[in-house]
Amino acid sequence: MNRDEPGTPSLRWDRDAVVAVDQRALPREYRLLRLTTVDELIDAIRSLAIRGAPAIGLAGALGVALSARLHGSAGEEAAAAVTADADRLAAARPTAVNLEWGVRRALGRLADGPEAVLAEATAMLHEDTASNRVAARRAADLVLSLTARRPLRLLTHCNTGRLATAATGTALGAILELAGRGHVAEVLVDETRPLLQGSRLTAWELGEAGVPYRICADSAAAAAMAQGLVDCVLVGADRIAANGDVANKIGTYGLAVAAAHHGVPFVVVAPESTWDRSLPDGSGILLEERDPAEITHVGGVAVAPAGAGVLNPAFDVTPAGLITGTVSEQRTVTGHFATGPAAGAAGTTAR
Ligand code: MRU
Repeated sequence: MNRDEPGTPSLRWDRDAVVAVDQRALPREYRLLRLTTVDELIDAIRSLAIRGAPAIGLAGALGVALSARLHGSAGEEAAAAVTADADRLAAARPTAVNLEWGVRRALGRLADGPEAVLAEATAMLHEDTASNRVAARRAADLVLSLTARRPLRLLTHCNTGRLATAATGTALGAILELAGRGHVAEVLVDETRPLLQGSRLTAWELGEAGVPYRICADSAAAAAMAQGLVDCVLVGADRIAANGDVANKIGTYGLAVAAAHHGVPFVVVAPESTWDRSLPDGSGILLEERDPAEITHVGGVAVAPAGAGVLNPAFDVTPAGLITGTVSEQRTVTGHFATGPAAGAAGTTAR
């Protein structure tokens, strides 16, 4: 067990390396990775050792810093080598726009030298920390305005906490903020098939924070809503189109349909860097299809007949019309779908 001091970020720069919690090993083992090459970093992103949209964006930026330090920035050859690394980093996973955003922003400083690239990546880590805090407060205020019952029973999907960001998280950051204000009775954590980011990571984070939770199978979420066990659903996002359609972990769309059916507010929390205004709607979002073995095997053991065909999209798109509110560090967008007291208050507020 290789523990950090409490409050240490899950992703950081340390001397000549990117240091990250290996999310593949949790909750069995808390293990730190020390990544010193772009190839190691790409492998960590692809294998979900580093995962979650904001985290992979920041990792991408740190990867450009790694490359700039290895190749330098003087001369066309060095610039071409760093740009090629940046392209490979940006392509490591296709759905979260944060990755491309982080890589391009860091690469934009290459002409100023390797230290400037690192300074930009480090600034992005600080910005994400600040953005987590502001968005969490803003989202907590929205949830309280949308719900009447206290304390709240919340439901979340995948992992949107400190492991997925530079600090406390997006949707999970908002849940922790609500818990800190004394408003959380329980969090239902979708296990999040097939890779179990909910039961492995979110449950682990909630346990660390001392917030009461129960894990449920993804397929139990709609029934829990029908039984009146859920006051609000909070999720993160990997890419948000200009019209507010949200790509997020597979299963999010089904949750939103169920929440709409039961009149349960459905809130998305994501930084501004997750918005992709070049896409008019969610139909243009590339949804990553992953290895069939993630479905046919659990812990290396086959749970399907050999040769079974598999459909394994890692993400889905939730239409904006099913979302009660979308919150970033700058804005609260409500009114697509009317539930609770905010009904009719369509629009954007920047408080
Ligand atoms: O495949 P993953 O685990 O990277 O998917 C992550 C998600 O879908 C998260 O909900 C999203 O990235 C937001 S993380 C703050």
